[in-house]
Amino acid sequence: MRSLVRETHLHAGALIYPLFICPGEGIRHEISSMPGVFNLSIDEAVKEAEICASLGLGGLLLFGLPAEKDEQGTGAWMEDGIVQQALRAIKKNRALDSLVTIADVCLCEYTSHGHCGVVARDGEHYEIDNDSSISLIAKTAASLAKAGADIVAPSDMMDGRVEAIREALDASGQEQIPVMSYASKFASAFYGPFREAADSAPQFGDRRSYQMDGANIREAMREIDQDIAEGADMLLMKPAMPYLDVIRAARERYDLPMGAYQVSGEYSMLHAAFQRGWLEPERAMMESLLSIRRAGADFIVTYFAKDAARVLA
Ligand code: PBG
Repeated sequence: MRSLVRETHLHAGALIYPLFICPGEGIRHEISSMPGVFNLSIDEAVKEAEICASLGLGGLLLFGLPAEKDEQGTGAWMEDGIVQQALRAIKKNRALDSLVTIADVCLCEYTSHGHCGVVARDGEHYEIDNDSSISLIAKTAASLAKAGADIVAPSDMMDGRVEAIREALDASGQEQIPVMSYASKFASAFYGPFREAADSAPQFGDRRSYQMDGANIREAMREIDQDIAEGADMLLMKPAMPYLDVIRAARERYDLPMGAYQVSGEYSMLHAAFQRGWLEPERAMMESLLSIRRAGADFIVTYFAKDAARVLA
């Protein structure tokens, strides 16, 4: 009877698993603050993707750790960049056809300073140069689509990036590739473990000049309006659990497909409690995912994707 009257459902096809791709071969390096999550070389990432496909997951979200970083984040848009290579390897493997490949579009993993855009420095003072950043971000999106990304997902939070990406995709003959915008992304302490996983902690300053203030829900709606006006096809809300009210507000206001990202800190925090025996792992994991769906997310990006799919099978 419970199943007949249940209002919210979880299914593996609406879960997306993030992968962190690193150079080399045969590498599976566990991220210390994220048990069960690894930096994977391309060969290992393909094996991981095969597991994801066999579990019926909806797709993968790809991040890259380049061999070298520089001020401009060149590794993000290079034709043989690390994620570009991984996308080609995944697309070549027919066993992975059921997985949607989503490429995260940002410069922070590729810049030596760790910021999501280009930094203009004047002695002690620094500023993120929004407009020169978006042209590099658009170039990155086009390059990732060309390499095989089914969806590009800008997470940089520069102003005007969605329009610039749409133009760059269209100009390179990739009119059919949708833009999934991290439309409302808050400056959050919950990204801490990710910055270890992606080696992308800012070397100075913080991201508060381009990511949103956690206090502001009306501003979040304005950011989403802007991204939709610029041509966003899907929305991604982030983080998830500390911002369920924002997800609910966006669900009521917008008809676009909308996902939520249960970020690294949300995963680490739950795992820390599991390790101490303070929470029941399976129940707490499923309840956290259900809460995000109930708030209104159509799909969830989560490091629990494989574990949850096993429970749902
Ligand atoms: C890149 C990016 C970040 C995350 C996704 N894309 C880090 C950040 O903005 O600092 C965080 C994801 C997570 O914490 O799991 N800009």
